[in-house]
Amino acid sequence: EQAERAKLLEGYEMAAKLYQYILHNTEQGKAAKAYLRDRGMNDKLIETFGLGYAPARWDTLTNLLDKKQYFLPLMEQGGLLSAKHDGNGYVDKFRDRIMFPIYDWKGQVIAFGGRAMGNVQPKYLNSPESMLFHKSRTLYNLHLARPQIRKTQEIVLFEGYMDVIRAWEAGIKNGVATMGTALTSEQAESIRRLAERVTVVYDGDQAGQTAAYKSIPLLENAGCQVRIAMLPDALDPDEYIAKYGSERFVREVIETAVPSIKYKLLYFRNNYRLQEDGEKLRYIKQALKLIAGLSSPIEREHYLRELSSEFRYSLEALQQNLNEIRLQTE
Ligand code: CTP
Ligand code: MN
Ligand code: MN
Ligand code: MN
Ligand code: MN
Repeated sequence: EQAERAKLLEGYEMAAKLYQYILHNTEQGKAAKAYLRDRGMNDKLIETFGLGYAPARWDTLTNLLDKKQYFLPLMEQGGLLSAKHDGNGYVDKFRDRIMFPIYDWKGQVIAFGGRAMGNVQPKYLNSPESMLFHKSRTLYNLHLARPQIRKTQEIVLFEGYMDVIRAWEAGIKNGVATMGTALTSEQAESIRRLAERVTVVYDGDQAGQTAAYKSIPLLENAGCQVRIAMLPDALDPDEYIAKYGSERFVREVIETAVPSIKYKLLYFRNNYRLQEDGEKLRYIKQALKLIAGLSSPIEREHYLRELSSEFRYSLEALQQNLNEIRLQTE
């Protein structure tokens, strides 16, 4: 078991090196390099994140591993190769894709995300679960982000590879990603072990905002203080930076992230037509429920005051309603 693990690690390491070599030094890598440039990536950034290119051939990695007599069945099991349908040998699993190595916290390659350059489905092809890779426990970029996370006691949580990389270039060195899937409690626990505070910066589209909303209880149950950043026009962080630049991203997205309670209040607001009295009252009720859930009296008062001044209800009336809600839920 241990021996197989070590061999698979070595296979992933060799594959990462091969894909990097191809990206930087071959004719086949040129279009991939141009694609990355087009997406705002310089060589230094490409190297920092170990990006590579798997060519549009069936045998690039297979030949290398074959030449080294390198445990092909194990490499298939680990998701680097696919068995041929006729059972006669193997072919490369990743073809014509930009390769994002996924590292464990020690900096060993344990999986790949492979991005198609055109409109090919799936957009990302990922390594399967293996003896090395458990997606629900992995956070992308933890190995590079760790020092800064420790130093600041804060983590910035993204959805995707490109978001982490672009944000890194923008100076956010404590960014990690959940790689598209919903945050798991295991990931939330490991976030809490590293840092007290989390800023969630998911995509601005509906899916991203819903995922951000769902991440709140997981992170808070793990004991984290949570802030949520909001992106305009359904942009994701990578797109925002491409459009508006790094400085504006830090200043207007990261630094204006709001506490989770505030986010929830804003999140629900969109469901109500606040010009109508009935709807407004229903929103206030929902808002009071959220505020009632806060454990700190000062925070409760703070958000009550905000409600009061925005909707022009007396603080006393709101307070009274809040007390009733708190009694009901005790
Ligand atoms: N993802 C995946 N498989 C897919 C789509 C997404 O594994 N078919 C993961 C990837 O880790 C991706 C993340 O989910 O980075 C977020 O998905 P999405 O927002 O769709 O992709 P982007 O990161 O924005 O990718 P890009 O900018 O390259 O389009
Ligand atoms: Mn295991
Ligand atoms: Mn997304
Ligand atoms: Mn995205
Ligand atoms: Mn994107």
